[in-house]
Amino acid sequence: MEIGVLKESKQQEKRVAITPKIVSKIKKLGHTVRVEKGLGLDANFYDSQYIEAGAEVLDADSVWTSDIILKINKPNDNDVSKLDNNKTLISFFSPAVNSDLLQSCAKDKINVLSMDSVPRISRAQKMDALSSMANIAGSRAVIEAAHNFGRFFGGQITAAGKIPPAKILIIGAGVAGLSAIGTASSLGAIVTAFDTRPEVKEQVESLGGQFLTVNLDEDGSSTDGYAKTMSKEFIDAEMALFKEQCKDVDIIITTALIPGKEAPKLITQEMLDVMKPGSVIVDLASQQGGNCVLCKRDEIVEYNGIKVIGYTDLPSRLPSQSSELYANNLYHILDELTPNNDGVVDINMDDDVIRGMTVVKDGEITFPPPKIEVSATPKVEEKKVEPKKEQIQKKSSILPGIIALSVLFLVGAFAPESFMNHFTVFVLSCFIGYMVIWNVTASLHTPLMSVTNAVSSIIIIGALTQVSSTDTVSLVLSGLAIFIASINIFGGFAVTKRMLGMFKK
Ligand code: NAI
Repeated sequence: MEIGVLKESKQQEKRVAITPKIVSKIKKLGHTVRVEKGLGLDANFYDSQYIEAGAEVLDADSVWTSDIILKINKPNDNDVSKLDNNKTLISFFSPAVNSDLLQSCAKDKINVLSMDSVPRISRAQKMDALSSMANIAGSRAVIEAAHNFGRFFGGQITAAGKIPPAKILIIGAGVAGLSAIGTASSLGAIVTAFDTRPEVKEQVESLGGQFLTVNLDEDGSSTDGYAKTMSKEFIDAEMALFKEQCKDVDIIITTALIPGKEAPKLITQEMLDVMKPGSVIVDLASQQGGNCVLCKRDEIVEYNGIKVIGYTDLPSRLPSQSSELYANNLYHILDELTPNNDGVVDINMDDDVIRGMTVVKDGEITFPPPKIEVSATPKVEEKKVEPKKEQIQKKSSILPGIIALSVLFLVGAFAPESFMNHFTVFVLSCFIGYMVIWNVTASLHTPLMSVTNAVSSIIIIGALTQVSSTDTVSLVLSGLAIFIASINIFGGFAVTKRMLGMFKK
């Protein structure tokens, strides 16, 4: 089939739906690719590259006659008027809020596959353009914040003074939030994050952030891979937390969103009043009204020296990267639509992913699709409360203690005084050694090994002074001591080397 790609009609859009690299991959599915002249100039893709990859470069009117049109942004009325019977359009569409557009596509029998309706299931990840664009937006949000913030992100100690690291709060640790956490941590900032879904805690921590919690047992996870609306108590509790954080942090990046709903207002005027001048808020939810009360779509609002950034075109600010990822998402969708690699497209409504994103087919509105269950978090089975190990140990440690004390008492009653002096030192050193080693956490075992190496060296020196003794018992014991201490030293070095190797990239 003929696949056509045109320049985006949305103003200042720099992304393109197809890149030269993807053209050749689509051609292998048996399709021909036709692109508008000068399509990728804003994203640094040239006509010559498209031609080299096997695309035809044509004027816009010729491209509109293609069987399938690939776009990024939702079509406007003019775009729809250029499409006729049985053509297919694949683009973002937001069907839930564009019912008029849906109606007119249905009337004109245009098949519409909406990129923002790809279900959030594992198999569809490679087709999920919402995620790939949010990933870029999260990272770019940090760069926008850095650009508008008057200081470094990382802390430094210089001759001219100490520079503290910037403190960043990320609200909403979904795709955009996690990407922002990764970028901000790698720039050296101290990052804290909050989300209504406790399941993201580990991901936040693995990216270098600290996960904040409120004292309420409520989980925002749902079965469709997105979050659900929280109770008023929860929202109040998280806002109290944010107010405390606002006094301390320098930058806030908010991404909190429940699909199909207006963004919750989480940063209030009261919170802005306690923030430090020079702070920056990047509100990624600005498209849905913003999480901050002062957010204005596509603008920077200044209040008391605080900047509130409401850009909605963050992926378009990294056009080459975004185009590459978006084109890849499209390729995977076309691959799914062309099962036999013969250039014949089959909109298979039995396929969960294709069904989910097909919002108009053969003149019929097929939105909303039936719900697909995505198990977000496995249910945790209730565990029986068992007595703690420490409690059991406490009970069982009383008896050996009594036995040890009685033995000591007996030895003290009958042994000579000189023996008792040495014996007391020996018992005390065993006790201290045991307590020191037993209470060292696993992460400190490497430095502990260095200490035991030093102790082993002392043992070897002591044994060396005795090894030439004429007394057979001293000779055997000192030889044994040298042997065992040597194992400890060499083993210690070997294990330390292995452990250090684990931290090397
Ligand atoms: P997502 O659904 O993966 O993440 C949203 C997160 O917010 C979820 O983890 C959810 O649990 C959390 N959340 C919801 N309500 C919350 C609350 N009351 N408190 C704390 N956390 C809450 O969405 P994704 O893909 O990360 O996108 C995030 C936002 O970024 C969306 O609003 C999206 O439209 C926007 N976006 C903005 C762009 C821009 O250029 N400004 C570009 C791409 C996405």
